[in-house]
Amino acid sequence: MDKLVKIGFLGCGNVGGGVWKLLNGFADDIAHRTGLRFEIKKVLVRSLNKQREIDFPDGVLTDCVDDVLNDPEISIVLEFLGGEKPAHQWIQMALERGKTVVTANKVAFALHWPELHKAAQDSGAGLYYEAAVCGAIPIIHTLEQSLQANRISYIYGIVNGTTNYILTRMSREGAEYSDVLADAQKLGLAEPDPSSDVEGFDAAYKLSILASLAFHGRVPFENVYVEGITKVQAEDIRCGQELGYTLKLLAIAKRDGLSVETRVHPTFIKNEHPLASVSDAFNAVFLRGHACGEMMFMGRGAGDLPTASAIVSDLLRAAAAEKHSYPTFENVVNPSVPLQKNTDWQTAFYVRMLAVDKPGVLASVAQTFSLYGVSIAVMQQKGDQTDGRVTLVFITHQASEQAMTHALKSINSDLVSVESVLRVEN
Ligand SMILES: NC(=O)c1ccc[n+]([C@@H]2O[C@H](COP(=O)([O-])OP(=O)(O)OC[C@H]3O[C@@H](n4cnc5c(N)ncnc54)[C@H](OP(=O)(O)O)[C@@H]3O)[C@@H](O)[C@H]2O)c1
Repeated sequence: MDKLVKIGFLGCGNVGGGVWKLLNGFADDIAHRTGLRFEIKKVLVRSLNKQREIDFPDGVLTDCVDDVLNDPEISIVLEFLGGEKPAHQWIQMALERGKTVVTANKVAFALHWPELHKAAQDSGAGLYYEAAVCGAIPIIHTLEQSLQANRISYIYGIVNGTTNYILTRMSREGAEYSDVLADAQKLGLAEPDPSSDVEGFDAAYKLSILASLAFHGRVPFENVYVEGITKVQAEDIRCGQELGYTLKLLAIAKRDGLSVETRVHPTFIKNEHPLASVSDAFNAVFLRGHACGEMMFMGRGAGDLPTASAIVSDLLRAAAAEKHSYPTFENVVNPSVPLQKNTDWQTAFYVRMLAVDKPGVLASVAQTFSLYGVSIAVMQQKGDQTDGRVTLVFITHQASEQAMTHALKSINSDLVSVESVLRVEN
């Protein structure tokens, strides 16, 4: 005899629609494999008059959140509203009432994780969020469970499909950012307001969640340095390609002792790096654990069914659990000492300059760099002189962020203009 679990949806757009389809179309397989059947008792939407693809049974759709949160038969609430408010309050209310929550909402989660975690622990409800990071890729479960025997030292993630799609097309076609963005919007691959994606915030929310789990200490969203792709120029991607590099928007988290750096920015990586081949809207997470070594997880980070795949697996875990488990955020080595934020990280840099074409200019740039401890690994002059200036491209060895900032400020601006600076991870 299958166990019947009554559930409620908060929201039923792209993701909710995918979950509806998967739960209904795959119900017999799920029951066969797990002994669980689900009744979707209530579905909250904003507008009852909207035309919908799904033919909901009478009485299921509602525009009143209390119909979900106050229904004592609903034991699991699935949230796919999007955005911080009112989703965060409603998730919190559900947890306080002892209802387990499965959510795809990285914003509400990254910004309010401590309160949600506490509400869940206090009431004994479960809190599941696999779909909030990298869609179908089971990276949350992997960090929470499968890699427990590891001390993770770094994570490099391509965690935003829209920006990966834009950078992939810029790289393939030599096209400029604004042209590819406009095309991506026409194709439905970028939102009409793309700012959260292209400014890097979406990736930063996800990175704060991944880093907190990987390092067993909270890494608040505010601790993540964020720089998006809006200033990336086709010329820099081309110059990087000529030197053997691919440009990606990377979400990077590194831990050294108690010091943690978290940053999202466009990054050149070697063409041979496994992440360089992750193209179009695909997501990937590359990490290193002291026992497992380096690993990469790749898959679809968005879309109705890929995201539903993660949500339904959370739902199955939640419905089968006799007792829910919660991640720990205590530093294993010394529980009373929190992780510290490091903002002066070490990285290599790519710098493109326009320099007056006369003897001694290159030597003066090299001298200024060396004054601040920045050493040059590669220098190239590109093309012919234009208006008395030539393009110079440098790749530096590893240098601290502050050293590079000071060096660039000290360069003689009568002789050289700095056109772009990008970070390089080797
Ligand atoms: N789309 C993806 O591929 C993807 C991937 C991973 C994670 N996510 C996350 O999943 C969540 C949902 O994304 P989505 O693409 O499915 O969004 P969506 O298509 O815009 O759907 C949102 C749903 O929530 C309902 N809703 C929104 N605000 C509401 C309110 N105040 N009261 C009642 N109902 C409300 C909407 O009602 P109406 O139907 O009446 O408009 C709609 O059904 C977001 O947190 C997103 O970040 C999405």
